[in-house]
Amino acid sequence: MKNPFVTNGYAGAEYFCDRVQETASLRELLLNENNVALISPRRLGKTDLIWHVFDDAQIRRTHYCFVVDIYPTKNLGDFVNMLGKAVMEELRPKGRKAWEKFITLVSSLRSEISFDMNGLPTWSVGLGAINNPAVTLDEIFTYLNQADKPCLVAIDEFQQITRYDDDTVEATIRTYVQRCTNAHFIFSGSQRHMMNGMFTSPSRPFYQAVSIMNLQPLDMKVYTDFCADKFEQAGKHLDPAVVSVLYQRFDAVTSYMHRILNVLYSRTGVGETCTVPMVDEAIDFILRMSSDTYESLYYQMPEKQRMLFLAIAKEGKASAVTGGKFINKHKLLSASSVSSALKGLLDKDFITMDKNVYSVYDQFFSLWLAFKGMI
Ligand SMILES: Nc1ncnc2c1ncn2[C@@H]1O[C@H](COP(=O)(O)OP(=O)(O)OP(=O)(O)O)[C@@H](O)[C@H]1O
Ligand SMILES: [Mg+2]
Repeated sequence: MKNPFVTNGYAGAEYFCDRVQETASLRELLLNENNVALISPRRLGKTDLIWHVFDDAQIRRTHYCFVVDIYPTKNLGDFVNMLGKAVMEELRPKGRKAWEKFITLVSSLRSEISFDMNGLPTWSVGLGAINNPAVTLDEIFTYLNQADKPCLVAIDEFQQITRYDDDTVEATIRTYVQRCTNAHFIFSGSQRHMMNGMFTSPSRPFYQAVSIMNLQPLDMKVYTDFCADKFEQAGKHLDPAVVSVLYQRFDAVTSYMHRILNVLYSRTGVGETCTVPMVDEAIDFILRMSSDTYESLYYQMPEKQRMLFLAIAKEGKASAVTGGKFINKHKLLSASSVSSALKGLLDKDFITMDKNVYSVYDQFFSLWLAFKGMI
């Protein structure tokens, strides 16, 4: 039997806990011509929620649903490439009528689209192959506006566009989105300050252009029942105290709790009960499994970043990190070296910042540092 605590992407409604209200709200907003910004701290379940909303049989019948993850993109060319690829991949299995119009409209990339043995189109646009992203972007939006069904487009990790060198991209995308009546959008992102800045500052292009939805942690009672139910279905039992311990230790962040429950589930035999002392063993197991990864990430950090990373990990939640007190306490060099190290760590997502408080982004990374006796 499959482990019901799935940790590598949306696996269907059966493995998805709750979010009933959020699913209904998102659906209602999108079907009523709104665009939505979906914001939460990292790893709470934004991406899975998007797939869950798009997994609905009725929505699939009446709409085309496209999900684009722009995390790896560095400029408008990459963005356009990812968007086009996502559209192509969604349309390909839907028959010639669905994809032909798209291919005809993206004429700037006609030579980059190849056909496989079955006559199906493949997006083989290499990195950097988009010479004039503005033209291709215009073509893709022309398609979205003329598609034979209304479109729902989720752009995940949307805060990434604020890292592009070209700072006109935000305004460009906003203009297209605003004019596109046949498509509605979810802009999903995790860095709260960047996403909020984008949607709530009057000076920014997206100000008041979307409905904002702040995703909250799963309700503890509902999640506990979900987990216990999965154990029971396999003839196993779960002490509810396990879930409360996880809530407390991981600040209710779904991803960490779910990874641990995945291990706990596999370690609990049929007829047995999963209890609190098993939690530490499961965490140790996960840390041992990922030790090589953390070790190389850690030693690849430039020295100054590594020192600051350790200092932030020691504090748990670190504030005033460029202040004299923090610098002296952790034997760092100077405010200016901390500032540049901070930027490096934020850029690579090793740390996150919310209201000027810094913390290590991956909670397992902090636990690994503790496991190794480094903090
Ligand atoms: N409603 C849910 N039911 C069951 N598991 C969930 C649910 N939401 C999230 N998860 C678990 O948490 C993990 C992280 O969720 P997801 O990737 O959707 O978070 P995210 O907010 O998009 O994270 P990131 O900020 O890293 O993009 C999933 O892989 C899954 O294991
Ligand atoms: Mg995500």
